[in-house]
Amino acid sequence: MKASASLVGPGWALAKFSVLTFLILVVLNLAMTTEARPRIRHYKWKVDYLYFSPDCVEKVIIAINGQFPGPTIRARVGDTIVVELENGLPTEGVVIHWHGIHQVGTPWYDGTAFVSQCPINPGETFTYKFMLSRPGTYFYHGHFGMQRAAGFYGSLIVDPEHGAKEPFAYDGELSIIINDWWHRSMYDQETGLFAIPFRFVGEPQSLLIEGRGRYNCSLVPSGSVAGSGDCVNCNSSNPQCQPYILPVEPGKTYRLRITSVASLSSLNFILEGHNMTIVKADSYNVDPVVVENLDVYSGETYSVLFTANQDPSKNYWAAVNVRGRKPATPTGLALLNYLPNPSSMLPSTPSPVTPVWNDFDYSLNQSKLIVARKGYEVPPPPKPDRQLIFLTTQNKLNGRMKWAINNITYVPTSTPVLAALKYGLKKAYDSIPPPDIPTHSFSINAPPANPNATVGSGVYTFQFGSVVDVIIQNANTLNPNNSEIHPWHLHGHDFWVLAYGKGIFDPATDPHSYNLKNAPLKNTVPVFPYGWVALRFRADNPGVWPFHCHVEPHFYMGMGVIFAEGWDRLPNLPKSVLGCGLSKHL
Ligand code: C2O
Ligand code: CU
Repeated sequence: MKASASLVGPGWALAKFSVLTFLILVVLNLAMTTEARPRIRHYKWKVDYLYFSPDCVEKVIIAINGQFPGPTIRARVGDTIVVELENGLPTEGVVIHWHGIHQVGTPWYDGTAFVSQCPINPGETFTYKFMLSRPGTYFYHGHFGMQRAAGFYGSLIVDPEHGAKEPFAYDGELSIIINDWWHRSMYDQETGLFAIPFRFVGEPQSLLIEGRGRYNCSLVPSGSVAGSGDCVNCNSSNPQCQPYILPVEPGKTYRLRITSVASLSSLNFILEGHNMTIVKADSYNVDPVVVENLDVYSGETYSVLFTANQDPSKNYWAAVNVRGRKPATPTGLALLNYLPNPSSMLPSTPSPVTPVWNDFDYSLNQSKLIVARKGYEVPPPPKPDRQLIFLTTQNKLNGRMKWAINNITYVPTSTPVLAALKYGLKKAYDSIPPPDIPTHSFSINAPPANPNATVGSGVYTFQFGSVVDVIIQNANTLNPNNSEIHPWHLHGHDFWVLAYGKGIFDPATDPHSYNLKNAPLKNTVPVFPYGWVALRFRADNPGVWPFHCHVEPHFYMGMGVIFAEGWDRLPNLPKSVLGCGLSKHL
């Protein structure tokens, strides 16, 4: 017995060991399945018109699943996002662009009408499917006409891999989208921008923080709102326009994600009584800088840290103001709520004071503070293969007001450019490439001598993998002594911001000032009045990519171009993105 027992012993122990190992592996595997393994995240969204009162004045907005802002997607690097999008709008097409996501290998799901796909018809369902390759704060929005201005947007937040650490610490997290808001419908705005004479959208009626703002209902004579033309509902006790609450515990440090989807305005964000440390810009780690307030341009995202270290018996304002245009809009307010104070306890202090709207040097200097964080630098290639100089001007075309790049104003084609290039549909776009540099001599200090632009749908095509520099040269508008801020956004890539400059860019000397050491990577950058900005990117993402001013009326009025590279490397496009214009014959 003893002998056999001792013989059995080790065998049993071995069996026990392997059962245990097996169990451990099973448990680990389960943990992997639910935690660390990339997931497929499936969403069913329906787009509908909805009556909503974001600033207490009711209007028709474009909502997703009855929500405004649209549902937040929260995912992890490596995850695949699948959005089944049903267009419930009875009479208009839709698309959704995933701003900041590169769509490597899936350029047809970039969500730009007549560039990556045909608009989704009323009643139809279209499925977006793409991989998330980088952590960060992103967002999505309509990219057809001015649908973004109708409230068609939401957040997309991508967490880093399990175990990957951010180079900064925080106890809690908050996230807001800020923007400007009009009472006139997007159709009314669009019609005015194309009308003769021109009817501008004007300054916004209110500013929203996470979809909530406040119009002063007492300004409304007998229920009607200026500019709306008819009777509307203004109700300051509507729960839809109560201030957004940012709850914090005294003493703790928070990461606040800030995204601007503004239609027109550059915005300044301030947290009453609290400094903020910028730690990320467009999802890259930047050298931490402490600021009292932060300029955010449409299309940009930031992460800032702040500590709830003020008198805990009070609540504080979070405020948004217009920058760069003469403000005619009240401050947008949210509430920084020190727990356990009730959120009904509003600060007795006036909303905090932001820098003067036209202190452009203040804004320029703040933008220059944004450089790559030490240890996280991605140095740009030392030299470009090609240099584009884009003179951006306000122009006239057949009596209509337009914006143009090197005197060409962009008008979308009726065939998606991606399909046109991929299948050689030469009739679908202008075959003459648009000019790399301004075609006439110019001055930037006065309205253009020849204000007439031409219309174009040409495409800038790049050698796959080549390095491209783009210098955006700002100029005077059609009005004397006026030049505006334009936040330029590139789809499918990030670019290095090499330099900001004043006056006219000098190709002989200015490249010597380029930051080749810790230039920040971004997908959106402002060009300031009467100045220029120099960008560099590698054309290594097969597809067709808009590069445009993120101001909604400006892009609508032609302020953009189309870039393309490596489309010949792509497989056949999904049928679902085709079917309009010349692509219906494929
Ligand atoms: Cu967020 Cu082409 O835009
Ligand atoms: Cu612009």
